Formats: sequence, structure tokens, C-alpha cells
Amino acid sequence: MSEVAKIELDGKVYELPIIVGTENEKAIDISKLRDVTGYVTLDTGYKNTGATTSSITFLDGEEGILHYRGYPIEQLAEKATFLEVSYLLIYGALPTTKQLEEFENSIKKHTLVHEDMKRFFEAYPAKAHPMGVLSSMISSLSTFYPESLDPNRSADMKNLTVHRLIAKLPTLAAWSFKNSLSHPFMYPKNEYGYVKNFLYMMFGMPTEEFHVDPVVISALNTLLILHADHEQNCSTSTVRIVGSSNANLYSTISAGISALWGPLHGGANQEVIEMLEQIQADGGNVDKWVAKAKDKEDPFRLMGFGHRVYKNFDPRATIIKKACDEVLIKLGINDPLLDIAKKLEKVALEDEYFKARNLYPNVDFYSGIIYKALGIPTDMFTVMFALGRLPGWIAQWKEMTENKEPIGRPRQIYTGFTKRDYINIEER
Ligand code: CMC
Repeated sequence: MSEVAKIELDGKVYELPIIVGTENEKAIDISKLRDVTGYVTLDTGYKNTGATTSSITFLDGEEGILHYRGYPIEQLAEKATFLEVSYLLIYGALPTTKQLEEFENSIKKHTLVHEDMKRFFEAYPAKAHPMGVLSSMISSLSTFYPESLDPNRSADMKNLTVHRLIAKLPTLAAWSFKNSLSHPFMYPKNEYGYVKNFLYMMFGMPTEEFHVDPVVISALNTLLILHADHEQNCSTSTVRIVGSSNANLYSTISAGISALWGPLHGGANQEVIEMLEQIQADGGNVDKWVAKAKDKEDPFRLMGFGHRVYKNFDPRATIIKKACDEVLIKLGINDPLLDIAKKLEKVALEDEYFKARNLYPNVDFYSGIIYKALGIPTDMFTVMFALGRLPGWIAQWKEMTENKEPIGRPRQIYTGFTKRDYINIEER
């Protein structure tokens, strides 16, 4: 393989270095292109742009491969806990028993949030979307920890902020749910594990022992692991860009939460259930809705289908489909929406339009069904995604700061008016 790419511009040939990753991913290094040639590249949506080098997550969309720090997602989802995977992503290695214990204990120490933050919740309208509440609350944490405002102050401070975020996000997420019900907030119970404690704060009673089926804990643990990182997607790129300005980590993660909220990204899991409910209310005619999705005059898309990088199958969807079946059988749930989902999956997978465009069910297609089975309300689905994605955002931010990457600042090709003179208002 050649080590340089040659590009001819205005009759002159330039050589650009080729970069090859450990999984043989190839890139043309254009970091000096503008200096040397005066040209920039144009790539809206960054479909062909490697924004960074990274050793966190490897993803091969054509082959349906996803590895965190080299470990296949299938093995992690089957054998690890979410906090173990969080440690792996953030610190780069699987923890020893002692390291995991210390990490878990440190997280438990920080699960409370400042009492004054409860007053913020009182001011939100009852129907406030929990994602709006969550991103504001996470950003607000920075006001309670002014020592975190310089994200590079010290390694210990960085670590403390990371642990605080992992510990407090479940509390704030559960409280945003409680707030939407006008129910009293539940304080964390630190003798419970991470997943059980979260479910307790959502559904438990302070005076009672909280019982939850292990299948539910296991499914939620799996879901969080599957969402834990996904390399340079929309919210992660947002985190890296915001963090590159040396903004504090709370605000940086808050920006990631906002990016995740969009229906084309993490918001899709909510949209999937709403779409299934819409199809059900319309009489359950799946073919009609598949036809609508194919109609270019109709803006409707099948939510939970297609992916920017997975063009054969989403390995997370394969794992989650199994977990979904297990949860529904174990909990004895017979959900008519699931029948519609299964029909939709079958019709779309056999349809030429979807086959030709490699549109398969993605992780959000099944995660919404599991969340629904667990009694998590629809507008909390993206919050669940945020809980899962947090360690990935942190790991990517940490890598970016440790590699001392420059501030993110793309170029553009200007297509507006060339210089023209101001026109006085009476002459317009
Ligand atoms: N339903 C119907 N047609 C679709 C769909 C869909 N869900 N997704 C893509 N297409 C068509 C699209 O109209 C286009 O057709 P044509 O080539 O004839 O113009 C072609 O497939 C390629 O689509 P695209 O929009 O260029 O693909 P993209 O890579 O830019 O978008 C996507 C990827 C995920 C935004 C898109 O597939 C989509 O909108 N899916 C539904 C939303 C969804 O489920 N999002 C969750 C993604 S998974 C969670 C995450 O990791 O963020």
C-alpha cells in the first residue's frame, strides 16, 4: 500500500501522508492541506472526515463490529457490569477486583446532589421534557463545583468531576422523572448496585425494601453497556468540540445531552414507540406505513431503521433483540406494539427499498420496547440513552484533553453575496 496520496491541484502535484489505524482503517492526512495548497475539503455531515485519532472504540459498519478498547461488545454485554465497562472506557483497561471496588465505592460516595438543586425542579412546568431538565441540571452542577471550572486544574480534580458525574446523573435523571409526576424525590440507596439504585429512585418507596426481577437488572445493565460508546457520533463530536474550548466538564456533557436529544440521534428510541402507537391507532396497517416511508414526497421515515455507519446490521440490535425477547417472556408481557414492531421489521427487511439502501433495525428499535416493558415512560427513553452514553462521552473528552487536541474550528466555503454597500432604509 502506498504511504502517500497524490493530489493534483492547478497543475501541481502534492503528496499527503496516509494514516493507517490498528484495524487497518485508512485516512489521508489533510491537516496541512490548506497551508500547503490553499484549499480546504468540503464534507457536510462529516461523512468522510476523521475528526481525530482515538483508541477507545472500534466500529466497522460494513461488518457490524463494535469493540470497546479492543473487547467485542458481545462479550462485554454478556459478562461485564456497566460500571466495569465505564472504567474500561475511561481508564483504558478492565479493572482488577480492587480497582472496581474502589471505583464503585467512589461513585456511591457522590450520588447525592446539593439540596438547593431541588428548588430548580420546582420551577419547571409539570410537563417539562426530562431531557431538557437533565441537560440544564448537569450544566447547573458546574455552579455548585466552581473548582471544576478549569477542567485541566489537576488530575485529581478531573477524576473527582468524572466520578461526581457518573454518580449524580442517575439521581438527576430519576428526579426529572419524579418531577414530571409531581412525586417526591427518592434519595439514593447506596447499598444497592448502580442499576438497582436507579430503578429504586424511579419506582421504589423510601420505607420499603425494593424488589426487582434480576432479568430486569440484567436487561438494563446490557442496554447501558450497549450505549456506552459509539465513537465519533453527533453527541460525542459535540462533547469533543465543546470540551476543546476548555469549557468545564459539566457544561461539556450537558451539550452532549442536548445533541443526543434530537430524533435523528438518541431521540429516535422515543420516536420508535410513538411511531408504533401511531400505526396502532391508525388500525395497524404496517404496509401503509412502509409505503409512506418509501414515498419521497412524504417526510415520514421508519424510526429505528437505518444508521449512518452500520450498513449491514447493527451488532447492538442483535444483542438487544435477544434481551428484549427474554424480558417480555420473563415478565409475561404481551404487548400489541411488539406485534406491530415484529411485522414492521419483517416487511421492511424483505422490501427492495430498504434492502437496496441497507436499512436495518438499529439499537433504538428494540431498546424502546424494553424500556416500555420495564415501565419507563416514553419521554425518559433518551435519558436512559444519556445514562448509558455518559462514560463514552467522558472517555472521549479525557482522551481529547490528554492528547492536547486544538480547539475544534472547521472551515467553510462561503456561498453568500460578495461585498456590497449598505442601502439606506428609505431606498430599499
Ligand atoms: N426510513 C425510510 N427511508 C430511510 C430511512 C428510514 N428510517 N433512513 C434512511 N432512509 C433513506 C433516505 O431517504 C435515503 O434515500 P435516497 O437514497 O433514496 O435519498 C437513503 O435511505 C439514505 O439515507 P440518509 O438520510 O442519507 O442516511 P444517513 O446515513 O444520512 O442517515 C439516519 C442515517 C439514522 C439519520 C437515517 O437512517 C434515519 O433518519 N433513520 C431514522 C432515525 C433513527 O432511527 N435514528 C437512530 C439512529 S441509531 C442511534 C444512534 O446511534 O444515534
